[in-house]
Amino acid sequence: MNKVALITGASRGIGKQIAITLAKEGYNISLNCRKQNEDVQKTKEELESYNVKCLIVEGDVSKFEDAERITKETIEEFERIDVLVNNAGITKDMLLLRMKEEDFRNVIDVNLCGTFNMSKNVSSYMMKARSGRIINIASVVGISGNAGQSNYAASKAGIIGFTKSLAKELASRNILVNAIAPGFIETDMTNVLKDDVKDKILEQIPLRREGTAEDVANIVKFLASDDSKYITGQVINVDGGMLM
Ligand code: NAI
Repeated sequence: MNKVALITGASRGIGKQIAITLAKEGYNISLNCRKQNEDVQKTKEELESYNVKCLIVEGDVSKFEDAERITKETIEEFERIDVLVNNAGITKDMLLLRMKEEDFRNVIDVNLCGTFNMSKNVSSYMMKARSGRIINIASVVGISGNAGQSNYAASKAGIIGFTKSLAKELASRNILVNAIAPGFIETDMTNVLKDDVKDKILEQIPLRREGTAEDVANIVKFLASDDSKYITGQVINVDGGMLM
């Protein structure tokens, strides 16, 4: 029986690449996206070309009832969830003085509460199975902070604290919980940045390049695998040396 990975926000970017990388490893994929579109269908076809099954589950992770349904539909289809990747995330960058309360809450709701909503629902199945991996996509700014991203950095710092707490709670059930903190990764999220902003960021990266979604997905593959069975409660930076 193939193992099953549930990946949130996998319609594009890092989440989509994680789905592809894990499908190549033989995982059946439960692919969460907010709304289905042609691209998601194409991704499903690509995943199935690796001889695995793919279920597309629409839903907004910031809503607890959606998280409950996403989990239930995955279990109905595959009868197990071995790996949960909390990848869905948004930014609404603004300096504090101009940041609307709604934009602060929104980012916390999706990034942090979404991670809670999914982990709470999925971990109850993992506890029964006495095995599982939860991999949370945080960010280096959750460690370093970043001007203009107080909402986003707070959500990602929250994810790191959440990861360590869950790791302690769930270790006795053989559920390992880790976070990945990507630095500057080339996706639609970072493509919106102006060239001068990008250049300034690149100056702070010893490897002098943006990371790729694959750079992140490869660490997810490692954290999902048996090779990492003695690692829990850790944050692994994937950032070209940006933060040391
Ligand atoms: P992206 O914007 O390309 O992808 C984000 C995905 O999350 C999209 O598919 C979007 O539809 C989905 N999503 C957003 N809100 C959702 C919701 N409420 N429910 C379900 N899905 C939702 O961004 P990217 O770059 O692929 O980011 C993926 C993760 O990596 C995010 O958590 C992001 O914060 C994190 N990250 C990205 C970095 C980068 O440089 N690109 C750096 C550090 C962290």
